Amino acid sequence: LAVGKAVAQKIPVNYDESQMPAYTLPNPLVLSNGKPVTSVSVWEKTRRPELLKLFAEELYGVNPFPSTIKSTVEVKTVNENALGGKAISKQITLRFPTISPTAALNVLLYLPKNVKKAPTFVSLNFTGNHSTTHEKEVLVTENWVNSGFDKSFVNNRATEASRGIAERRWPYEAIVARGYAVATAYYGDLEPDHAEGWRTGIRSVLTPEQREKWSALGVWAWSMSRMVDYLIQHEGQIDAKKIIGVGHSRIGKATLWAGAEDPRFAVVISNDSGEGGAALARRWIGETVEHLNTQFPHWFCANYKKYNKAVAELPVDQHELLSLIAPRPLYVASASKDTWADPKGEFLSAVEAGKVYQLYKKTGLGTSEMPAVNTPVGQTIGYHLREGGHDILLYDWEQYMNFIDKHIKIQ
Ligand code: GCU
Repeated sequence: LAVGKAVAQKIPVNYDESQMPAYTLPNPLVLSNGKPVTSVSVWEKTRRPELLKLFAEELYGVNPFPSTIKSTVEVKTVNENALGGKAISKQITLRFPTISPTAALNVLLYLPKNVKKAPTFVSLNFTGNHSTTHEKEVLVTENWVNSGFDKSFVNNRATEASRGIAERRWPYEAIVARGYAVATAYYGDLEPDHAEGWRTGIRSVLTPEQREKWSALGVWAWSMSRMVDYLIQHEGQIDAKKIIGVGHSRIGKATLWAGAEDPRFAVVISNDSGEGGAALARRWIGETVEHLNTQFPHWFCANYKKYNKAVAELPVDQHELLSLIAPRPLYVASASKDTWADPKGEFLSAVEAGKVYQLYKKTGLGTSEMPAVNTPVGQTIGYHLREGGHDILLYDWEQYMNFIDKHIKIQ
């Protein structure tokens, strides 16, 4: 990882729009044979599958597992009085014995009291479930963690000292107070985030060829879908039709891919996902495909590296990933100081995805003018530019809940 970072730092970075070469975006509404997509049925039967296949083969990887996976469920703890009595919390370990003897995904779930069927956020965290809260019963992750993420991590292991370090990103009390449930798991459970992480993760059971065709981001997206399997089968209090995928940064990239692959995500939210997420790849601003593939060679599949110096040859761009969410509500958020993620490129990508929403007679953003900071805009696609840096904060969650409240009813 350190080597990747040093090399990535030598790759030129541009932040100046006037220095950016012109680019042409591929049109989501043109089939690979050149014919236009003029109906929802052609989109759903032909164009959408074409795009999904391209994103799998060239970026996020081809998932080698069957679409239905049997998991075993072990409920480790239940607290009927979590968050000062406002919620029920549970910790559940999911295992997948038909594909791996060791893989385990540890889910932390908060259910609001007094809601019969809760819409539920599904997300992954960067530093372990215990880092999202100070609640004592939440188990400290035993998996590899990135020592660079926190001073309390020693030799890539977490300790009690890291309890609650990411609390600002997980405003559980505010979330359950609005009638939402929230489920999270450590993103490194099924693949630790480093170039050799596959060795101890779920990709270790694959042939080298299958492994290279898939990716770490693909595994993280897959983890989110396994959480959905559990939630809709086992948690009666959860509204299976109101599962919301949300993720920050690299997990935002994984979330968009999860939402594209898995239609059970009724709403999809990208928080500062940047390059390889919501941001248009063809814009030469901030991070580039080459930076991504150099610093994080395991995130995407091997094919993505072909575009390091040839981004115009990518058969897709990221607005087409966003359009795979249509007609479901989609929210893209940026932060004003997060120039590495190219906020304008994230916004323009959301504007472009609106074309596919129009095919469904829905309005996407309803504007092509980038809003001022802290001024949410949009209709079936939402967008805001939070003032500040690369993070996911209460302000972001509040805008997400305001947006979702407009689209779905809480019972
Ligand atoms: C790095 C990386 C980004 C990523 C971010 C994060 O900055 O270059 O692509 O989104 O880490 O996950 O926080």
